Amino acid sequence: MAASTEITLRRPDDWHVHLRDGAMLNAVAPITARAFARAIVMPNLVDPVTTAAAAGQYRERILDAVGRDGGFTPLMTCYLTDRTDAEDLCAGHADGVFTAAKLYPAGATTNSASGVTDMARIRPVLEAMQETAMPLLIHGEVTDPEVDVFDREAVFIERVLTPLLADFPALRVVFEHITTADAVAFVRAQGPRVAATVTVHHLLINRTDLFRGGIRPHLYCLPVAKREAHRLALVEAATSGEGCFFLGTDSAPHPVADKESACGCAGIFSAPAALELYAQVFADQGVPERLEAFAALNGPAFYGLPVNEGTVTLKREDWTVPDAVPVAVGGLVRPFMGGEVVGWKVAD
Ligand code: NCD
Ligand code: ZN
Repeated sequence: MAASTEITLRRPDDWHVHLRDGAMLNAVAPITARAFARAIVMPNLVDPVTTAAAAGQYRERILDAVGRDGGFTPLMTCYLTDRTDAEDLCAGHADGVFTAAKLYPAGATTNSASGVTDMARIRPVLEAMQETAMPLLIHGEVTDPEVDVFDREAVFIERVLTPLLADFPALRVVFEHITTADAVAFVRAQGPRVAATVTVHHLLINRTDLFRGGIRPHLYCLPVAKREAHRLALVEAATSGEGCFFLGTDSAPHPVADKESACGCAGIFSAPAALELYAQVFADQGVPERLEAFAALNGPAFYGLPVNEGTVTLKREDWTVPDAVPVAVGGLVRPFMGGEVVGWKVAD
């Protein structure tokens, strides 16, 4: 069979993205809205989004940044802390302000200092979420400094996720940006109440790539990329078409100066070529027809939302990812694969 040169799918969604705020929001939100109809917007702003009121205001700022023509719908999340008010959370969910809540173990990643220090502290919140079927989105890494950074996801499964799912047998959970074969196997072994997002960078890079010819700060994110065997397990899972795996870019822009630093921060800005790179992965696996399930069907099915109207077509065509995106005056963000050639392009 000849390799396909065109992929048409329902308009896709990004089930995990960081849009930030202010000048950065204005620069990056239209880039996500270009390719995705909806996105689950992460709440880890410098001042985290912890209340329904704050989420409502943030949603307005996002709509200001992308325009209000109805082409893009931000789906808001609540940043859980030790002090989250279950009532405000559930009221926000019932009102349609919150689609889900995000669990950052305190200290696990960028802007997670006010995250949850101990799962016991959010028991009432988790009970309420289980009751109302509000999805819990989890950054699945332990923060124990004794645990090797490459093992933090696997250890999280054992120490936190397994007991959590046993304690809350109906809680709906998305294991975000999985990076290991352990996580793939774990998610598969659960019922339909557990799903996982897979980023495009974890499908394309392994931990050796972080040191290709020197240290590569723009390939550093959390959870950090793992060994090649894990990357291969992620590719197999994402391209399987199974309903428990769906698209979440974790596109996480940071100013160049914060990445190219003696202590460079975590986060990969993949939005400028994310959909095209996912298409390339599926095409390279010989299953371009499965991109639609991963990018446009499995996520809505898990979240109980309708699939999007309309379609998007990708064509087999080489183009070069821009090597920088300007942010206000003088600022820059460097995209994932900036300056490199991608073999698929969204048709106009
Ligand atoms: C994210 C960020 O920069 O906000 N960074 C990252 O490396 N992925 C936070 C996160 O999702 O862990
Ligand atoms: Zn993230």
